[in-house]
Amino acid sequence: MIDQVLQNLQDTEPQGVQRLCDWLRIASISADPKFAEQCQDAAQWAADRLAEAGLEARVLPTGSAAEPGHPCVLAKTPNADTGRGPHVLFYGHYDVQPPDPLDLWESGPFDPLVKPADDKVPAEHIVARGASDDKGQVAMFLEALRAWMEVGGEPAGGLRMTVLLEGEEESGSENLEKFLKEHEPALKGCDFCLISDTGMISRTRPAITYGVRGLAYTQIRLHGPDKDVHSGFWGGRMPNPLNELTRVLAQMWDEDRRITIDGFYDDLVEATAEERAEWASLNIDVPAMLRNIGLGPEADIGEAGFTSIEREWSRPTAEINGIWGGYTGAGAKTVIPAYATAKVSFRLVADQDPKDIADKFFAWLQGRTPPGCRWELEDMHGGHPSSVDPTSPWLSQARRAMEQATGMDVALIKTGGSIPVAGMLKDSLGLDTVFMGFGLDDDRVHSPNEKFELPCFRMGARSHAVLIDLLREGSA
Ligand code: BES
Ligand code: MN
Ligand code: MN
Repeated sequence: MIDQVLQNLQDTEPQGVQRLCDWLRIASISADPKFAEQCQDAAQWAADRLAEAGLEARVLPTGSAAEPGHPCVLAKTPNADTGRGPHVLFYGHYDVQPPDPLDLWESGPFDPLVKPADDKVPAEHIVARGASDDKGQVAMFLEALRAWMEVGGEPAGGLRMTVLLEGEEESGSENLEKFLKEHEPALKGCDFCLISDTGMISRTRPAITYGVRGLAYTQIRLHGPDKDVHSGFWGGRMPNPLNELTRVLAQMWDEDRRITIDGFYDDLVEATAEERAEWASLNIDVPAMLRNIGLGPEADIGEAGFTSIEREWSRPTAEINGIWGGYTGAGAKTVIPAYATAKVSFRLVADQDPKDIADKFFAWLQGRTPPGCRWELEDMHGGHPSSVDPTSPWLSQARRAMEQATGMDVALIKTGGSIPVAGMLKDSLGLDTVFMGFGLDDDRVHSPNEKFELPCFRMGARSHAVLIDLLREGSA
């Protein structure tokens, strides 16, 4: 039967791509409240596809009546609670990052274009916000479900399946924890979570990701004088909040680029020597990755004593994501502002806790408060790091499925990115997550002209179809 399912996927690919384009036209930007209706529509669109594939699908509210969040889609095959055999929880997100800066897009971010290969992209590809992160990757899974239903007449080929699609992943998953708690009965029978929201090593080297980093995201403001003042009268006589904020933040890294916040590394679990050796043997072309973002090999800098890949996969970082204050308009203005603001975030690795790290950062700042100034500190959101034992049988099945579907060797990698749901599922339900993703490093996720290449879409749809086959009862 799997051969017919794969044939169906091949025959219907143009329609599958058009279906994805329909979804990409819905501007489901979760960070901006103006797009709440589009988020609702994008959720409903996905629920309709799941229903067509024979699942019982619901669009459910999150948050509270006073502060509603974007809805989640929760769907299950009719046999999910009562059947036998493995029960898979598939997670994806239908929300997308804001598209700005708009003037850098070559076509509208919500006006998907299917483009032929060109001198920059070696294959046919779809350009739109969300093409790779994550609608395109969820769509591969939806196509696999559709093909199984069309060919076999059974939802998910008889595999027990629950599907959860979130609408706030790109803005911090703030309502997800509560949602998971409320719907625990629907989720707790699952054996593992499967996510397609990560990447491959290259076009010819698919990969399973066995770990994501955590995140602690903060906004900090340093207040000085109670009004903006003349820089000639007051410069050099009292704290300039912008000068002082940058002085303090510059102390966050020592000479070796290690983070100086007290206790920052206390809970960190180091990568093992074997792991580091495995990663080195992947021979990932770091100079090429740097070249892709316009940098030469000399730009390979970071915490001393670790390779570029080790720094991405196994070391925590501190990043200033934005910093502003004072006069930023046209011309010159000799002013010292009343306050200065920065967004500062930390990528975390096991067993660092986002809340604990934000607290440690804030205590460190308080210990460095410039004379006469005060801090306004906000812990915006966070997510736990999460990884699965690379010897997990679920991971092995996913790897086998990918190998069968692509005919290529599948590597085991980690990623520096974060997907908060994985940590929550581990905490609340003890579920492991396997990340089976098909993005490419140069997909421009979160950037202008985001794209997803059709060969990736194809590999993903096939891999999901084969994984369903390997897991469903009576096969394997
Ligand atoms: N899909 C990404 C994370 C990702 C991308 C992992 C590529 C591995 C490879 C996800 O949508 C994302 O952007 N996550 C945010 C999390 C945050 C907003 C809580 C991130 O990593 O910044
Ligand atoms: Mn994503
Ligand atoms: Mn993202």
